[in-house]
Amino acid sequence: MHIRLLQAADHTEYTQLWIYALTEQQTYFRVALEDDAQPRIPTRFTAESFTLGAFIGTQLVGTVSLDRETRFKTRHKAVLLRMFVHPAATGQGVGKALVQETLNLAGNINGLRQVYLTVLATNPRAIGLYAAMGFSQFAQEPGSVYINGEYVDELQLVCFLAK
Ligand SMILES: CC(C)(COP(=O)(O)OP(=O)(O)OC[C@H]1O[C@@H](n2cnc3c(N)ncnc32)[C@H](O)[C@@H]1OP(=O)(O)O)[C@@H](O)C(=O)NCCC(=O)NCCS
Repeated sequence: MHIRLLQAADHTEYTQLWIYALTEQQTYFRVALEDDAQPRIPTRFTAESFTLGAFIGTQLVGTVSLDRETRFKTRHKAVLLRMFVHPAATGQGVGKALVQETLNLAGNINGLRQVYLTVLATNPRAIGLYAAMGFSQFAQEPGSVYINGEYVDELQLVCFLAK
């Protein structure tokens, strides 16, 4: 398995993986295929707004994105989003490697102090992964996301970067 930054040329493979994620595993996400039927790489291909891909051979099996806030007073923060590992590749450290590389690259961004994310309270696997990588919960929003006829709580997590 290797990890690299995705480029615009990776859009097709990325879109395929995300359509799979939002079709087969939609209960883990706050976004839906109904929002965007052709989800493309959500970041801007810069050092402060990037998407990583995990590959086994040439196959894209996992992805995660980081997007730094652009407003003057909140530029010390970035959001980690769109985390997904294909079920055929889970449980082998791919998710951890993606988060670790994201935090490594985030640590190189001048002035960036903290990375935050949201995760559904019904997703113990992802919560366990983020906890193992140094994230801690600072809030829980009741009924934040409406999925399959139910209102699901969302946890807000933060990781302070070691500088
Ligand atoms: C959550 C997800 C990213 C994990 O990816 P993965 O490649 O299987 O993760 P890894 O194998 O690198 O790491 C697993 C770690 O997660 C945690 N973990 C795994 N399964 C767990 C479980 N059932 N309960 C609690 N923690 C768990 C552990 O910390 C584990 O580390 P360990 O094996 O060293 O103990 C993947 O299952 C996935 O994409 N799920 C569906 C989409 C999703 O939930 N995305 C996140 C949205 S916020």
